[in-house]
Amino acid sequence: MTVAKESIWNDSVLRSRGFSPESLKGAPDKGPAPSTLDKIKVIGGQELHGDIPISGAKNCALKLMCAALLTDKSVYFENAPNSLRDMQSQTELLEYLGCAVKREGSLMAINAGPVKTQTAPYDIVRKMRGSILVLGPLLARFGEAKVSLPGGCAIGTRPVDMHIKALEELGAQITLEEGYINARAPAGGLQGAKILFPKVSVGATENLMMAATLANGTTTLVNAAREPEITDLGECLIKMGAKITGLGTERITIEGVNSLGGAHHAIVPDRIETGTYMVAAAMTGGSLRLKNARLEHLSAAAGHLSQTGVAIDQDGADIIVSRDPNIPLKSIDIMTEPHPGFPTDLQAQFMAMLTIAEGAGLVTETIFENRFMHVPELSRMGANITVQGHSAIVRGVPKLTGAEVMATDLRASVALVLAGLVAEGETTINRIYHLERGYENIVEKLGGVGANIKHA
Ligand code: UD1
Repeated sequence: MTVAKESIWNDSVLRSRGFSPESLKGAPDKGPAPSTLDKIKVIGGQELHGDIPISGAKNCALKLMCAALLTDKSVYFENAPNSLRDMQSQTELLEYLGCAVKREGSLMAINAGPVKTQTAPYDIVRKMRGSILVLGPLLARFGEAKVSLPGGCAIGTRPVDMHIKALEELGAQITLEEGYINARAPAGGLQGAKILFPKVSVGATENLMMAATLANGTTTLVNAAREPEITDLGECLIKMGAKITGLGTERITIEGVNSLGGAHHAIVPDRIETGTYMVAAAMTGGSLRLKNARLEHLSAAAGHLSQTGVAIDQDGADIIVSRDPNIPLKSIDIMTEPHPGFPTDLQAQFMAMLTIAEGAGLVTETIFENRFMHVPELSRMGANITVQGHSAIVRGVPKLTGAEVMATDLRASVALVLAGLVAEGETTINRIYHLERGYENIVEKLGGVGANIKHA
């Protein structure tokens, strides 16, 4: 039976969650239309001063949307970064599955009551790796799922073998055919199990944590990832009725329940967006107040940044970052690691900073094998970087020079914007499609604190 989408929402409930009367009456909000412009131009040399609001974490929001598939009740989110392309792709996927999704500003409501198919097709999944996270919830609630193998940033081979093997350990029968993962739960549903991940994986931890909420018995995830986004996802699942302990540790225990209910959840601030703007303040020698940001989620990155000579403070709900432009940045070494180590998603931005620091710094990437794609582009701007295997030596130069460069993946793209902020002359960043996947209103946010930046 197909349920009309209109009958799903209760207007007074939506109003109580912050949706406006106009939005209740109007057509479903598809979010802002994607920009038709595909370049950003930056003229370097401005110190940045002022406030930047930090959005909700994309890497959490995408998973929370999948968690809504675990229940036929409505789930409401605040602080959703709705204008991001990845959020639009995930909305497209959930709507394809049959969910009702309502968005207004940074509010989002999802009802997965009317789900009509458990197949996540290639055309939608290929746009974004985060879509693999529908696999666990669909399998757990409906007993079957067919999900295309994902796409996403080209920063490595990025297999999903651990997701598949761990779901098999919960009793699922899984085959790979024609680019699709076909998964079926045993009669009576998934069975709790002890799962030892051979390697720390954010996505595998999340997929399994969600699947295990509706499994029979207890599941223990050992060598689980500890990222703040996983804790946030777990906290939302607990609000929905899940029984989870050990969040933020390498051992997460989930006691399965028969069903989950609705919830209202404010999404954790985006620590990678926060870290990116911290680097912007450091590079330009400015002072920024990052509004609604949590320093405790960035301890490794902030620790490294303060070694370069940058002052960083948590002030209530905000982080204040500043650097005296008369004192040069000092080089540092960084090595990416799973949380609470230095995040791979900030490696490119820190490398951009090291290109203008005094001395030489060693950048070692241990998470992804192909995450130095920003190096040739930074070199076009005058950076002095030598790559050897998984490491890069960055020798600071007195100045970068504006150039035409190409965005290759999400974090590499933003590293080029950061480099453009300090380069002499104009930098044109082509193919900003990647940037729009993960940075909400970046041109407006940087322009608002004094950067000379525009879409072109
Ligand atoms: C997530 C983030 C991404 C971040 C990454 C590491 C989202 C949408 N993306 O990606 O921004 O850079 O965490 O912090 O949240 N691996 C396997 N087999 C698997 C799964 C992973 O070998 O089944 C490998 C990966 O190739 C990689 C490493 O494990 O080398 C870590 O990947 P993982 O933590 O799973 O990253 P994602 O969840 O894809």
